[in-house]
Amino acid sequence: MKAGELVMLKTSHRGKVREFIVTVREDEFHTDFGKVDLALLLEKDFGDHITAHKGQEFIIQRPRMPDFFNHAKRTGAPMMPKDIGLIIAYTGLNKNDSVLDAGTGSGILAMYLGSIAKRVLSYEVRENFADVARKNVMNAGLDNVEIRCGDIVQEISSLGESFDVVTLDTQDSKDVVPHVSGILNPGGFMVTYSPFFEQTKEIRDAMAEANFYDVRTIECTEREISFSERGTRPSTTRVGHTGFITIARA
Ligand SMILES: C[S@@+](CC[C@H](N)C(=O)[O-])C[C@H]1O[C@@H](n2cnc3c(N)ncnc32)[C@H](O)[C@@H]1O
Repeated sequence: MKAGELVMLKTSHRGKVREFIVTVREDEFHTDFGKVDLALLLEKDFGDHITAHKGQEFIIQRPRMPDFFNHAKRTGAPMMPKDIGLIIAYTGLNKNDSVLDAGTGSGILAMYLGSIAKRVLSYEVRENFADVARKNVMNAGLDNVEIRCGDIVQEISSLGESFDVVTLDTQDSKDVVPHVSGILNPGGFMVTYSPFFEQTKEIRDAMAEANFYDVRTIECTEREISFSERGTRPSTTRVGHTGFITIARA
């Protein structure tokens, strides 16, 4: 392993999985299981084990985006993986794409998009939220996600660049929609995420006014199945409504 590499240390304690994301470096990492000498990771590979000074053993894994989702600091409600998956699938996001995203929030959507696309530019109006998101992006080792502090409604007309995909998750998305065709590459997609029907209808009206085509609004429901001695059935604790996703093309 190389210095600076991100690593996940995973262990099991009293039937519970515990995990930590650390950087390979000349330092010690303190856990409730004792100290882990991070320099020892330089001689290890993914899949190897490392032992804390009190004897607890950790498996070393490469963290992936769902791990960064679990470990990222939250400033508000992040977009859920089920909705992010839908955005990635329906836009056909790929490694050549440039993406404009707003608002950044905790940066969860921006990070997932950045793990696939060439570049992500994300706007967040609140400076303290932008700072947290920048840290999350850095902790995920992404150098292609740029977070700018600013109001997307004001900034969108003067960006001076074009994008293949635009994702909007702000209360005022309907005010951004009229400006998106000016910065979207031909055949590109715009996606909005809105928790309420009323907000979604306003977005749809704005899209119709701006002559977008192939407009679709989707809600994705996720149902986990629980397995127990008593039987198998959909889990009774479940993620309820999150938001509506509206997809349109320029
Ligand atoms: C629901 S959160 C976005 C969550 C984000 N998609 C994620 O996955 O972490 C909405 C964010 O938009 C920001 N926001 C609201 N209006 C904005 C605007 N006009 N320009 C930029 N950011 C805005 C808010 O401050 C808030 O952090």
